[in-house]
Amino acid sequence: MVELSLKYQDILPFVSEDELNLFEREVALHRKNIYQRKGKGSEFLGWVTLPDEPNESLFLRLESDAQKIREQSEVVVVAGIGGSYLGARAVIEALTGAFPLHDKGNEKPSPTIIYAGHHLDEDYHHDLLKFLDTKDYTVIVISKSGTTTEPAVAFRLLRDHMESKYGVDGSAGRIYAITDARRGALKQLAGERGYPVYEIPDDVGGRYSVLTPVGLLPIAVAGFNIRELMAGARAMAGHLKGEQPLLKNPAACYAVLRNMLYNKGRTTEILVGYNPCLYYLIEWWKQLFGESEGKDGKGIFPAGANFTTDLHSMGQYIQDGLKNIFETVILVGEPANKLIIPEDSQNLDGLNYLAGKRLQDVNEMAARGTVMAHVDGNVPNMQIHIPVINEKTLGELIYFFEMSCAVSGYILGVNPFDQPGVEAYKRNMFALLGKPGSSSSNGRKE
Ligand code: PA5
Repeated sequence: MVELSLKYQDILPFVSEDELNLFEREVALHRKNIYQRKGKGSEFLGWVTLPDEPNESLFLRLESDAQKIREQSEVVVVAGIGGSYLGARAVIEALTGAFPLHDKGNEKPSPTIIYAGHHLDEDYHHDLLKFLDTKDYTVIVISKSGTTTEPAVAFRLLRDHMESKYGVDGSAGRIYAITDARRGALKQLAGERGYPVYEIPDDVGGRYSVLTPVGLLPIAVAGFNIRELMAGARAMAGHLKGEQPLLKNPAACYAVLRNMLYNKGRTTEILVGYNPCLYYLIEWWKQLFGESEGKDGKGIFPAGANFTTDLHSMGQYIQDGLKNIFETVILVGEPANKLIIPEDSQNLDGLNYLAGKRLQDVNEMAARGTVMAHVDGNVPNMQIHIPVINEKTLGELIYFFEMSCAVSGYILGVNPFDQPGVEAYKRNMFALLGKPGSSSSNGRKE
C-alpha cells in the first residue's frame, strides 16, 4: 500500500477534470512505451524496474561496506555532482535531524557526511582539506562518466590529501568508487589503485540513479535503512503500474496537470516544502525535471521554495507577480517530535491564543492559509501528501517523481533521459583552460 497521495482540487478552478480525461489515451500510450522500453531514450529506462529487482548480494555488500566505513570514519566525503550527488543528499538530509542530538546510547555516532566536487570553489575545498587534517575519513567518489571535471578535480585534491595522511596503501581501504562498469578515467584509476568499485547500471542515467549504489551507499553510511527506502519505491512502482485509469494514477495525473497548466501559460512550477529538511529533496527534484524537460526550446522551469521562510521573500511575487506560475506543495502529516507552545501568564507577546497547540498545528494552518491565498491570487496549486518523513515515504516520493517526470517529458515531446545542453559550458571551459584537443562553442581552438 502506498502512503503518498496527490490532491488536485485547488487546480480545478484552472483546469477541469474533463480536460484532464482527454489525456487518457495519450498517457496510456506513454506508459506502455515506458514499461515496454520503447520511445525516446528507451536505453535509459533501467530505473523503472530497479525496485522490483532488489539484488540481495548487492544489499549485503552495501550494508557491510557501510558498516566498515562508519567504523573507520568520523567524516565521510561524498564527491559527485548533479545526479551523482543530489539524490543521496536529498535522502540523507531529509532523514537527519537539524542538530546532532540523536543519542543512540553506546552506539558510535554516525559519521558526518560532507559533500565535495559539486562546484569549483577554491575556499570551500581548501577549508574542507584543512578540516580533514584532524579527522579520520573515507571518500566515496561518484561519477558515471568518470570524467566530470568538478568531482574529478575534487577527488584529485582529496586523494593527494589522503595519501599524505594515510599513505598510498592506507588510502586504498578509505576510497570507494561508484562509476560505469567499463568506461572512464575513474574506473581505470580505481582498478589500478585497488579501490573497491560499485557499478552504475548502463541503463540508468545520473538523475534517475538514487536507487543504485550512487544513492544507496552514502545513505547506508549515514545510518539509514536502504531496504525500507527500496520497499517504498517498490510499493509506489507497483501502485503506478497497476493503476490504469488516469485519475487513479497519481504520477500520470501530476504529469498531465503540469502539462495542461504549461499549455495555459504556466511556464514555472514551484515545488514548495514546509520542512527545512526537504530542502535537498526539492533541489533533487529541480535537477530531475530541469534536465529532463528543458530542451528543444520547451519545458516548465522548475523552481523551489521553502515555506514559511520564503513566504517572507518569494511570497510577495507568488501572490501578486506575473501569473506564469503554479505551485506543487509537499505536505507532511506528522513530525517525528512534539512541541507544545507554552502558556505565558503575562502574555506580553499576545500569543496565548496559541498556547497548548503544537507548532505543527501552526505550520499546517500556515500551509492551508497560503494555499487559499495563492489560489485566490490566481496561482494554481496542487498538493502531495505524505504522512511522515521516513525511508519508506521518501522511496515512494522518489519513484513517484521519476515516473511523473518520464510521463511528463513524453507528453511534452522531449527525450527525458538525455542532457545535450549540459555540454555547452564544458566545451568553452575546456577550451579556456587549454585542455588538449578542445575548442569553444564558436569553434575557436585554444
Ligand atoms: O543526470 C545526469 O545525467 C547528470 O546530472 C549527471 O549526473 C552529472 O552531470 C554528473 O555526471 P557523472 O556522474 O558522469 O559525473
